[in-house]
Amino acid sequence: MSLRGRNFLTTQDFTHAELKDILDLAVEIKRGGGSAHPLKGKGLALLFFNPSLRTRSSFELGMFQLGGHAVVLAPGKDAWPMEPREGVVMDGEAEEHVKEATRVLCRFFDGIAVRCFPKFQNWAEDRLDPMLTAIAKYSTKPVINMETIVHPCQELALMQTIREHLGEPRKKKFLLTWTWHPKGLNTAVANSAALISTKFGMDVTILRPEGYDLDPRYVEAARENAKAQGGSLTVTSDIEAAYRGADFVYAKSWGAIPYFGRWEEEKQVRAGLKHFIVDAAKMKLTNNARFSHCLPMRRNVKVTDEVADSPAAMFIDEAENRLHVQKALLARLLG
Ligand code: CP
Repeated sequence: MSLRGRNFLTTQDFTHAELKDILDLAVEIKRGGGSAHPLKGKGLALLFFNPSLRTRSSFELGMFQLGGHAVVLAPGKDAWPMEPREGVVMDGEAEEHVKEATRVLCRFFDGIAVRCFPKFQNWAEDRLDPMLTAIAKYSTKPVINMETIVHPCQELALMQTIREHLGEPRKKKFLLTWTWHPKGLNTAVANSAALISTKFGMDVTILRPEGYDLDPRYVEAARENAKAQGGSLTVTSDIEAAYRGADFVYAKSWGAIPYFGRWEEEKQVRAGLKHFIVDAAKMKLTNNARFSHCLPMRRNVKVTDEVADSPAAMFIDEAENRLHVQKALLARLLG
């Protein structure tokens, strides 16, 4: 199957078979197979509006290992701040418009990858994913989402890790649990975990405190995925019931959407929710579940040392898989 020239903005634009094809190629690449330098002479622009350890390392190294080259640009730091909105008077911080920046990058590169988190002030605006949407509009080359309001590359690595440790994911019990964190974080990884687990037919439970529902767009998409793939989706705040019998526990903290832009108020709400931490007592309720997290992960805030340092912990494997799945993705889109 050919995925050449397509954008990778969300896994929802791809069928289960197409995603499985990328993961199968990643298995081959991880084993040392696949063609040696499928991207010889190709270039990828990596636009980082936010910090990164894993995403930047794995994309930059991945392009090198495929025979290509990646150039990292941090708009607002070592590249000009960019304006994504149409028709505005550009008398603020932004020095250039996405219209020019994207079209110039397309003259140099074979693809553009973008990390641009929400501004965390107004979800109604953030949920439109303005920077990624504008870049995709003006790009004539494939655009890859490196985390905006979803994190589809993390999804691939997560699903690869599940396949490695649980075998066929279909009907296995996947628990996505909210955890406490001192800050209101992006919902992207949680949205993504719900999408990919249901896309692969898992029986999925989202455990979250009242008020921490994900955007209905993603919950509904996950429900549709579950229906199409023979899995299920449950949303609950019952901690014990959620953990019981789980095969895979995935932890993530995210900010309460109704409080976007009012984080001081949200702090009072989340103050009583530290007991959502992943600990050994909760893991004992599971079916000897594996545990993972996208990283970075605050120890003894989201997960106890006891669980993080146990054989159940899979987050280093998941992080490694970022490299392999992204190489497979790049080979398919740009090769
Ligand atoms: N998981 C992840 O995307 O890590 P970074 O933020 O370090 O890239």
